[in-house]
Amino acid sequence: MTIITKLAIAASLATALTSVSIAQENLKGLVVGFSQIGSESGWRAAETSVTKQEAEARGVDLKFADAQQKQENQIKAIRGFIAQGVDAIMVAPVVATGWDDVLTEAKEAEIPVILLDRGVDAPEDLYLTSVASDQVKEGRVAGEWLVAAVGDADCKIVELQGTVGSTPAINRKQGFEEAIAGHANLTIARSQTGDFTRSKGKEVMEGFIKAENGGADICAVYAHNDDMAVGAIQAIKDAGLKPGTDIKVVSIDAVPDIFAAMVAGEANATVELTPNMAGPAFDALSAYLADGTEPAKFIITESKLYTPADNPQGEYDTRKGLGY
Ligand code: AHR
Repeated sequence: MTIITKLAIAASLATALTSVSIAQENLKGLVVGFSQIGSESGWRAAETSVTKQEAEARGVDLKFADAQQKQENQIKAIRGFIAQGVDAIMVAPVVATGWDDVLTEAKEAEIPVILLDRGVDAPEDLYLTSVASDQVKEGRVAGEWLVAAVGDADCKIVELQGTVGSTPAINRKQGFEEAIAGHANLTIARSQTGDFTRSKGKEVMEGFIKAENGGADICAVYAHNDDMAVGAIQAIKDAGLKPGTDIKVVSIDAVPDIFAAMVAGEANATVELTPNMAGPAFDALSAYLADGTEPAKFIITESKLYTPADNPQGEYDTRKGLGY
């Protein structure tokens, strides 16, 4: 290696390190309000833990507000953050609509707002950026897996939707329907909300089983998150059927419990949603505060499919300590 190459590498390394340390340094001591939806799922519990860790790593004073699933509590919390004069606000919006007023208030107070994991139906200039997955793609990946898994066989699907009016419920439904469109052997026979919770997923699945010949007519359950899938798995077992075999189970999140279900042969596929939305959000905030760099309006996280072929025991072991 020539001396010039060595110097060039050293210079680019130094630049990289400097920008990392600036990113870490300029958030130190900042106060950031985080309005979290609640703790409806294992995934959300992990998102909360990771957000607190990411804040701590950067020296950010994170003010955490749990909205207990209610939009009115989120709006109240955001107004509280504005009144306190926080430096930035992060919000995981429980539903898509009804945010214009409070986001306008934050904008007028010159407090940047970052959306985490769900979107809003509001003008894009009311928030700095949105860090989330491509939820339509998640639904499509789940649907494409099922199309391939059933082949030419007839397949009656039951669907457990997420929270009514939330972007993941709307978009994951759309993506899945897009994937099965054109495959007349796959039909969604029943679809109802399970509110992203394990208990509701179980209860709704029990109703589906009763309505579908004790479950004998159901070929697959598509759940908009893993927690509802885990509830559905219990309902299938209680009905004397084998989840994963008699009724295929496909869902979204990739939480440890779904990998445990895969190890037991009771779940067939999941689409990963990273709980680390806060890392990219803080990085975007840091660059914005450093020199006004406008982040991309939508920072999209990955959506990887996992099946029992992907070492579910290993995936369980890796994730189980991460706050799920
Ligand atoms: O918005 C992300 C979704 O919300 C997760 O898939 C689900 O588990 C959570 O409650």
